[in-house]
Amino acid sequence: MSGETVLEAQALTRHYAVSTGFLKPKGLVRALDGVSFTLAAGKTLAVVGESGCGKSTLARQLTMIEPATSGALLLAGADVTHADAALKKQLRQQVQMVFQNPFASLNPRKKIGHALEEPLVINTDATKAARTERARAMMARVGLRPEHDARYPHMFSGGQRQRIAIARALMLQPKIVVLDEPVSALDVSIQAQVLNLLMDLQDETRVAYVFISHNLAVVELIADEVLVMYLGKVVEQAPKAVLFATPRHPYTRALLASTPRIDKAARQQREVLSGELPSPLNPPSGCAFHKRCPFAIERCRVEVPVLEDLGGAQRVACHRVHEI
Ligand SMILES: Nc1ncnc2c1ncn2[C@@H]1O[C@H](COP(=O)(O)OP(=O)(O)OP(=O)(O)O)[C@@H](O)[C@H]1O
Ligand SMILES: [Mg+2]
Repeated sequence: MSGETVLEAQALTRHYAVSTGFLKPKGLVRALDGVSFTLAAGKTLAVVGESGCGKSTLARQLTMIEPATSGALLLAGADVTHADAALKKQLRQQVQMVFQNPFASLNPRKKIGHALEEPLVINTDATKAARTERARAMMARVGLRPEHDARYPHMFSGGQRQRIAIARALMLQPKIVVLDEPVSALDVSIQAQVLNLLMDLQDETRVAYVFISHNLAVVELIADEVLVMYLGKVVEQAPKAVLFATPRHPYTRALLASTPRIDKAARQQREVLSGELPSPLNPPSGCAFHKRCPFAIERCRVEVPVLEDLGGAQRVACHRVHEI
């Protein structure tokens, strides 16, 4: 990606040891398994894939909520993996998170002015007056009435609450905001307003987004780049226009086919995704997608495909990509 790189994941991996039953050996869930990408200032990387493919695990890695099992994460050029406590604190301010459920992410007992000022209290020496002013300015910026800063979260609608969560994430002027299904809980009409707000804020501040979503129609609207994940691995990455016009991985094609499309040609090339996502505790051998893939051959059962650069910034992990 061109421009100033603000985030780089290098083979980022997160495994969880889980109990598989009484007196049984612990199993290992490979929730995130060697994910690499870069993100430039002012750009949006969308992360898509079925439930359980590791999207929220990735979000927790990028926002430094959890340490990586292996691999490296660079924020604004600094290596998080080996940072000391002081550097980590500084880097945490650079990457903020917005969660799916705006009802759960705001403390119901705190006025929203307080919620917005809190990051400033923790991380800056701004005076009370300066904090209030910045909080009110941010409320106006996200389309809320500044004088409502003394209200409690329950006095706002879901869409308004998500605006508050976005405002809070932006208070420290982060370089990156990770949004995990930020509009999925909202009415469709409200979704569009919140997406427009996110795009306007990005134009003004050059903040970079990692945008996690199930909804490919939303991704088509907001993304610059799209990363498709399957069982903890990247199976395809491409600029948005390339991915939607010429998806190359059978999984990406199936995902797109299962979404209603405006384009008639795209509608006619339907391939249907059969079967369920296998357990990440016992992933299939070789290509993890082979059991559901209409193009799978013997090689797919035994050999793990690597991400191959197809040119045009498109990367695909499929043994049969040149034949299908
Ligand atoms: N703390 C944990 N301990 C054990 N397993 C976990 C833990 N967190 C996540 N997992 C497992 O890791 C895998 C990936 O989970 P994750 O929440 O990242 O998926 P997701 O893509 O965000 O799914 P969804 O779309 O449903 O939100 C799942 O199999 C999940 O059960
Ligand atoms: Mg999730």
